Amino acid sequence: MVAEHTPDVPIAAAPIAAAPIVVASNRGPVSYKLREDGSLVAGRGGGGLVSGLSEIGRDPEGAAAVWVCAALGAGDREAAGRAGRRLAAADTGGLQVRMLDIAPETFAAAYNGVANSVLWFVHHMLWQTPLEPSFDAGFRAEWAAYEAYNTAFADAIAEEAAEGASVLVQDYHLTLVPGLLRERRPDLRIGHFSHTPWAPPDYYRLLPDDVAAQVLRGVLGGDRAAFLTRRWAEAFAACCTSTLGAETVREDGVVTAVRFEGRTTRLGVHGLGADADFLRERAHRPDVEERLAALRERIGPGRRTIVRVDRTELSKNIVRGLRAYRRLLQDHPQWHGRVVHIAFAYPSRQDLAVYRHYMAEVGRLAREINAEFGTDDWEPVALHLEDDFPRSLAAYRLADVALVNPIRDGMNLVAKEVPVVSDHGCVLVLSREAGAAAELGDEALTINPYDIEATARALHLALLMDPGERAERTKRLAAAATALPPGRWFAAQLAALVP
Ligand code: G6P
Repeated sequence: MVAEHTPDVPIAAAPIAAAPIVVASNRGPVSYKLREDGSLVAGRGGGGLVSGLSEIGRDPEGAAAVWVCAALGAGDREAAGRAGRRLAAADTGGLQVRMLDIAPETFAAAYNGVANSVLWFVHHMLWQTPLEPSFDAGFRAEWAAYEAYNTAFADAIAEEAAEGASVLVQDYHLTLVPGLLRERRPDLRIGHFSHTPWAPPDYYRLLPDDVAAQVLRGVLGGDRAAFLTRRWAEAFAACCTSTLGAETVREDGVVTAVRFEGRTTRLGVHGLGADADFLRERAHRPDVEERLAALRERIGPGRRTIVRVDRTELSKNIVRGLRAYRRLLQDHPQWHGRVVHIAFAYPSRQDLAVYRHYMAEVGRLAREINAEFGTDDWEPVALHLEDDFPRSLAAYRLADVALVNPIRDGMNLVAKEVPVVSDHGCVLVLSREAGAAAELGDEALTINPYDIEATARALHLALLMDPGERAERTKRLAAAATALPPGRWFAAQLAALVP
């Protein structure tokens, strides 16, 4: 979701006032590309945080909210350097943004080495344990970089935040920030939000003991730690007990806080929902209509569609999804020539070899299925590897079946977005390991994501579902999916930070 525009005013330092609200995340709401002539092009990102904070930005009371993020590439570094402390509001859609130019080697080690290769792996349970992980001297150097990167964030937030400000720290990149920030600014109210799952204790213990403890202590440095579903909050609390010997507080059987070394950190759950107003409007613009026509043409008349849209993360389970589709075609020849699997697998974290290999395997398997079953006028898998948001919306609109089968997922917004924009109703085949299953499981066909046979059976049932039932289920899915839209999700976290 990126709207490109050229800054119409030169980048310049904005007036600086300490902020009553600070948001911190690795990836910010804006990114820059450096052109050959030395000029910068700004692109704005989407997502829940951006819309949540934009809403506060529009409120004069909250106009001084600041977003602290990292410079991710050369363009960002250049922009951060030219801007001084905060970026120009014209580039950021009016948000106040402070972009940190952390040394490239430190950033790479923290982001690729620790956040994406260790913390992402532990929470999504991705290691092939006979050979990995192995925490050697190289890892120790990366861990030191992760500490330095978290320290840079804590220092910047300490500088930006007004007395008693509320600070919302996002995700596994910044687990040490709450603790570091409390040391610097005990007056602040600090919340941490995890957008990923949290590992269960036995898996979490794969981390080196001191690192496992440091991450938990870091998050517990805040007043509140929040998660996308109850399941991840429970797992976090269980890790605190098992690794730190912390005490958990329960109300009506549900964990509500963790007590450790004389402090209490409250736990919360906010299940981010789809932004129905935005999606419905956006999904009917001309660029989406154009892509819808192109997709229909490619699929051919009268065929059903199984749609998946993912960033190609290892946790998304695209390869098993393709295997299940192949199984469907093997088991049910009735679908030959009558169904197309539209698979959008967009690039993600391509600096990591294991991600590149995974993406190549997705392409290889799709070609294999097309070679095995395809005919002159039927391409069983339509795979696209380049990110195209309007095309994703077009696929959402025409999908008969949506396949969302991650190994594990914090929430999975695709599962929530499809029912909202679907033209004629869509059956959702949903992994029980996605956070979204807690809210959508009753109306979806839920699957064990490792079970190819069960996934193939669910796809078959989904294709056969009677249109009336499908439409009814889609309505109920859309209602559940939009229960907590981004603006309210963000506001709820802010409100909950004040005890
Ligand atoms: C996914 C996760 C988020 C995470 C993001 C980072 O979307 O759900 O928890 O913050 O990835 O992605 P990036 O492209 O910045 O590595």
